[in-house]
Amino acid sequence: MQINPLSDILGAEVVGLDVGNLDKANLKTVQEAFLKYHVLVFREQKLLPEQQIQFATNFGKLDVHIQKDNQYSGHEAMQILSNKKINGKYIGSPSAGDAWHSDLSYTDIPTLCTMLYAVEIPEVGGDTEWSNMYKAYDTLSSEVKSRLKGLHARHTFNRFRNPRIEVPDVYKGKGKERYVDVAPPDAIHPVVRTHPETGHKALYISERFTIGIEELEEEEGQLLLDELIAHQKNRDFIYRHKWSQGDLTIWDNRCLIHLACGGVPEGQIRHMHRVIVRGDKPF
Ligand code: SIN
Repeated sequence: MQINPLSDILGAEVVGLDVGNLDKANLKTVQEAFLKYHVLVFREQKLLPEQQIQFATNFGKLDVHIQKDNQYSGHEAMQILSNKKINGKYIGSPSAGDAWHSDLSYTDIPTLCTMLYAVEIPEVGGDTEWSNMYKAYDTLSSEVKSRLKGLHARHTFNRFRNPRIEVPDVYKGKGKERYVDVAPPDAIHPVVRTHPETGHKALYISERFTIGIEELEEEEGQLLLDELIAHQKNRDFIYRHKWSQGDLTIWDNRCLIHLACGGVPEGQIRHMHRVIVRGDKPF
């Protein structure tokens, strides 16, 4: 097995390892690399859904996403992200991840890590970006850092309550009821969280899910969020991944935000399998 950094800011590829066939020593190396690089890309995997699910359990207990209509049949822990249609209907979510976010931050116990497997990849588009929230925090001025001390943010799944983001057509009309139905109660988390394994501080808000700052008046909170959201999208913190078929990525939602970049032309297919591992309460 070889581990090669993919950028200076985050990410490494793992070459020569079959994650469906992992021994204890390799698992330890992978877990250490995960904390060091935050995103790992395992190249040339050939994974059945059960093998991806099995690999994910090495990182914790699997979670079931609240949007159940994209579940892989027979595997509730796996979701299909896809722009494929059968009889005119999408067979998975075509727009998941289309705004910067950290997975499930709208719940009390958000995601530790996400595993996304590239089953079918378009020739053009469909990249994923990750931004490093340790760096985002570290590069704030000491004045802003002290302003953030003790602040908590409100996170919601419901796109209709977040003026910063678009609502894709697929969720309009009937979808509106569905959002309201499946959205859990808002979650409140520290604006700056401490990573439970590394002890480092990370900025923990996002354009997709964060809608306010609890301790501030509405206008002041929104201005601060605008400033932090612009800062966390600084290109210096970002790695952009161009997928190859067979890539399995795993990323740490406790110190990253991510974005599905879209841009897949009509007629080309992007088809992915996603599994999420439950984390712990941010502090
Ligand atoms: C996600 O947000 O989990 C999906 C990212 C992607 O499809 O690139």
